[in-house]
Order: sequence, then structure tokens, then C-alpha cells
Amino acid sequence: MTQVIAIANQKGGVGKTTTAINLAGALAEAGYRVLCIDMDPQANLTAGLGINLNTVERSMADVLSDGRATLDEVILRTEVEGIDVAPAHIDLASTEGELFTMLGRESILRDAIAGRVDGYDYVLIDCPPNLGLLTVNGLVAADSVIIPVQTQYYAMKGLNNLVKVINTIRTKLNRDLRILGLLPTFFDSRTNLARDMLEELRVVGDHHVFNTIVRNTVKLGEAPLAGRPITTYAATSEAAKTYRDLAREVIELATP
Ligand SMILES: Nc1ncnc2c1ncn2[C@@H]1O[C@H](COP(=O)(O)OP(=O)(O)OP(=O)(O)O)[C@@H](O)[C@H]1O
Ligand SMILES: [Mg+2]
Repeated sequence: MTQVIAIANQKGGVGKTTTAINLAGALAEAGYRVLCIDMDPQANLTAGLGINLNTVERSMADVLSDGRATLDEVILRTEVEGIDVAPAHIDLASTEGELFTMLGRESILRDAIAGRVDGYDYVLIDCPPNLGLLTVNGLVAADSVIIPVQTQYYAMKGLNNLVKVINTIRTKLNRDLRILGLLPTFFDSRTNLARDMLEELRVVGDHHVFNTIVRNTVKLGEAPLAGRPITTYAATSEAAKTYRDLAREVIELATP
């Protein structure tokens, strides 16, 4: 059974794309077949998986805009065994506008992937940093959602808005959508603030918080520039181990 997992948080720079790339890396290393779907016009997921953006001819923009292409027609192999990517393109920004006029505009992605992702064990959907239609499409298409949360100032701010959107989607469009967990990111154990934030995440909300904590690590910023997940870029690093831990948790939680 394919598990479709969206990675969402409307706050920018919290580690959504980093989570998608490196979770994909760890899942692929464990022998799973992974499709990464890039729903962000910034195309950081696509680039971070080593795809030269200038060579992308067809992208998710074509899949979403009145079916100019099917999902299979845009999927590209990456250099990492087991990871394919449905690339984004800057065009996606205007696609969002087009979606507004479409019937069933929140479910276009769900319809586009239906019956076309059976060859994958996991589909990871990287959402843009807003709660617009691209993110909503990602959430409607997903079985579950991972919410990366920066363990810094104001991390909790905005979380309620995201949870509200998720709840609305649950009642209206995707009853089975569940929050797989909040993922603490950019953790710096040297600061009290980070430790307090982590505590707050675990205590205040009634959402599952992953045991895995992603630390603030320079290597995690370097790996996407090399176009590879941390699991192959720095296979023996602490950060690679972190994402293997996360993959184990995700496998356990996402299995129905
Ligand atoms: N744990 C970390 N330690 C250090 N740097 C990190 C870490 N996680 C991510 N980064 C870097 O921080 C930046 C933001 O991360 P990322 O792109 O994953 O966030 P995002 O939530 O996808 O951002 P956006 O909202 O713009 O899509 C990137 O340059 C990334 O390489
Ligand atoms: Mg991103």
C-alpha cells in the first residue's frame, strides 16, 4: 500500500524541503521506492535532488493545469537509487491562480495521482510556505502530514492556523487525513529557548511529536547544493543518522 505523506507548514524556512529530501534518502536506503512531488514554485526539492532546473520541460504545473501532462509524463529519475521526482517549475506560481477557476480545485492533485503511484511505497509531497491552493491540494491528496516546526522563537505561532485548515479538510474533503507528527527542527541544545520550545511542543499541543529531533547542522544546508540527500552526501554523519531514525518512526506510524 502506497503511503502519501505531505510535508507542510505555512511558515517559511522551517525545514519542509530538507525533511522531504532526507526522509526520501533514508527511506530509499532502506529499500523503499519513493516519489517526491514538488508543489513549491521555488522548486527547492527538485534542485535539492540534483535535477538541473533548466532541463525541466514538464512539471507539476502541467499536471495540475487542466491535465496538460499526466503524472508519469513528468516524473524524472534522480541519481539516488529508489528516488524519483515529479519536478516543480516557477510556472507553478501561476498554476495556483488557474486552480481557482477549476471545478474541484482542492482535489486536482489527488485526482492526478490516483492510480498512478502504485509503484511507490512512499509519496512525499513538499508544500510551499503558505496555506494556498497548492498546499491544500497537497493535504487533500495525502494520507498523513508531517509538520516540521522550528524550535525557535514564535515556532508555535501559526501552528493553530495550519491545524484549523487540516481540520477543515478533514471534515470536508479528506476524512482520513491525519497528523503523523510535529518534527522539531533547527534544534540547538545549547540554548534554553530551544529546550523550552521542545517542551512546549510536547506538552501544550495534543499532537504527536516525533522522538527524532533535527539539530541545527551545517551539513544539512550543504547537501542540497550537492543535489543529494544527507544519507549519501555524508552517510556517516549525525544528521544522516537522524533521518534514518525519522524514517523508522515514519514507517511505523504511517503503516495502516
Ligand atoms: N537542521 C538544519 N540545520 C541547518 N540548516 C538547515 C537545517 N534544515 C534546513 N536547513 C537549511 O535551512 C534552509 C531552509 O530549509 P528548507 O528549505 O528545508 O525549509 P522550507 O521550510 O522548505 O523553506 P520554504 O518555506 O522556503 O520552502 C535551507 O537552506 C536548508 O538547507
Ligand atoms: Mg521548501
